[in-house]
Amino acid sequence: MKVLAIETSCDETAIAIVEAHGDEQSASFTVLGNALLSQIDIHREYGGVFPALAKREHAKNLVPLLEAALEEAELLHEDTQAIPEETRDKIAAILSREPGLAEAFFDFVSECEPPAIDAIAVTAGPGLEPALWVGINFAKALALLWSKPLVAVNHMEGHIMAALATNDAEGVLLHIKDVKLPVLALLISGGHTELVLMKEWLEYELIGQTKDDAVGEAFDKVARMLGLPYPGGPEISRLAELVRNSSELGSPVSKFELPRPMLNDATCDFSFSGLKTAVLYLLKKNPDMSEREKQHLAHEFENAVTDVLSKKTARALEQTGAQTLVLGGGVSANTHIRRTFAVKMKEEYPNVALRIPSAALTTDNAIMIALAGFYRALRDEVAPADLAASGNRSLA
Ligand code: KG4
Ligand code: ZN
Repeated sequence: MKVLAIETSCDETAIAIVEAHGDEQSASFTVLGNALLSQIDIHREYGGVFPALAKREHAKNLVPLLEAALEEAELLHEDTQAIPEETRDKIAAILSREPGLAEAFFDFVSECEPPAIDAIAVTAGPGLEPALWVGINFAKALALLWSKPLVAVNHMEGHIMAALATNDAEGVLLHIKDVKLPVLALLISGGHTELVLMKEWLEYELIGQTKDDAVGEAFDKVARMLGLPYPGGPEISRLAELVRNSSELGSPVSKFELPRPMLNDATCDFSFSGLKTAVLYLLKKNPDMSEREKQHLAHEFENAVTDVLSKKTARALEQTGAQTLVLGGGVSANTHIRRTFAVKMKEEYPNVALRIPSAALTTDNAIMIALAGFYRALRDEVAPADLAASGNRSLA
């Protein structure tokens, strides 16, 4: 099955074409085409993702990315197409809320043979609704024009599938097989911090979640307080690593102490807003912090976050008896978090398989949407004609 997948939930516009073989027990995936444009440079000026701007950029980027992905997949065949009046009108109506998109769409598709794909998958949520809508409308237009089934994908399921996928040596072929259920997923991104259990394949239960800020949001806000650019996660990580790798006498000592919110309570829930406020107070008390002190603060913040994430995850493992742990979402790119989980799991839960997404599949992309879309398509889950963006779409 060849799946064309579209991702526009946040500040990455991405289209991938993936050929999938197999079933729910054992599947392999070849990435035929993968085109992605990050808007980070555009949003940096605003210190975060600006939804109206994200929407406009997605509308501008989708057609060029579609062309690039089809070309890479060798599925782009130029040929003048007659589009029936009625279809044209329907598509124009579907794309009417995305300025400029209909023109670019018709220019491209009227010179392109319908490609040999079997399904179109699109992120339907969670995410920024104005951004999600662009991808959904674009996917609906393509599905109508090319008469392909449209499959709605939950972005977080995409992150889980990306984490479950293992690479072959050349990195070309991905496999999802030998997954031991239940799977516990720690999903950490700019909008999410949750522990989700996949008891049966594609059946989810929420085990814990943040009461306030998402962990990526906390990274981004603390980075902004320290005067670091958006997105803050990689910047904090860079400063913290400087402290860990430094040759100060003995092991690096934290110069600051931050709280570990909800560390010892009986739930698997999280809270990060108090941690963020604690950083704010420290900065107010020490207005002339040196660069070195800022590095120490970043280091302590990253340690506090990692302590909470690993302790709550351990609690959830005990509570659920999960056989596999996956990390997913943009924050799982964090070097210290990855390293800590790798060590702790080996020491404390040697029988639980740990799966962490490869670096390229960690942050938002369309390959992960194609993987999840494949499983939904296998179950014939065709999206309704009135599929809508759902900013809070949940897994459980
Ligand atoms: O999953 P993602 O790409 O987009 C959302 O769906 O939110 O996650 C983006 C988040 C941002 O908050 C970013 O700061 C964070 O992931 N992030 C990191 C790192 N790389 C990205 N956080 C900590 N350490 C990193 N290395
Ligand atoms: Zn994401």
